[in-house]
Amino acid sequence: MKEPSFKMLLPGLIVAILILNSSDLNSSQSASVSLGWNSYKTQLSKEALTILETKCNVCHRRQNPLMIFKEKNIAKRAPKIYKQVFLEKRMPKGDEIRLSQEEYRTLEKWLFTQKLF
Ligand code: HEC
Repeated sequence: MKEPSFKMLLPGLIVAILILNSSDLNSSQSASVSLGWNSYKTQLSKEALTILETKCNVCHRRQNPLMIFKEKNIAKRAPKIYKQVFLEKRMPKGDEIRLSQEEYRTLEKWLFTQKLF
């Protein structure tokens, strides 16, 4: 048997590059900028964390210290956040802190990238 040469591997390489490129194209359509899926997810997590810190932690720090949102725990808490904010609409609690339409949309987009069930 001959050693596999670069020429023999080339078609495989080209197919691999085509597949990688096309999956990147598909997933970036949902993002307004052309990011791959993973960077889109990371970007959304960052934006969600900013909202959770400014609109939720401000109160939780005093009234519910066991539920302070951090980079490390928000993925695990996504189902609870979904339930409280979108299903039961209990949070943000009270009338003083409100989420803007934009903030609801960002949280919603982030939740779509998370495992909820
Ligand atoms: C003004 C205070 C306040 C704000 C603002 C607030 N929370 Fe809460 N949150 C509470 C308190 C108090 C509790 C515990 C008692 C309860 O569940 O009502 C709680 C509980 C929770 C729980 C746990 C519920 C459970 O029992 O599983 C989640 C999840 C939660 N909040 C999410 C959020 C999110 C997300 C936001 C921001 C969008 C938010 N909260 C904003 C006061 C607040």
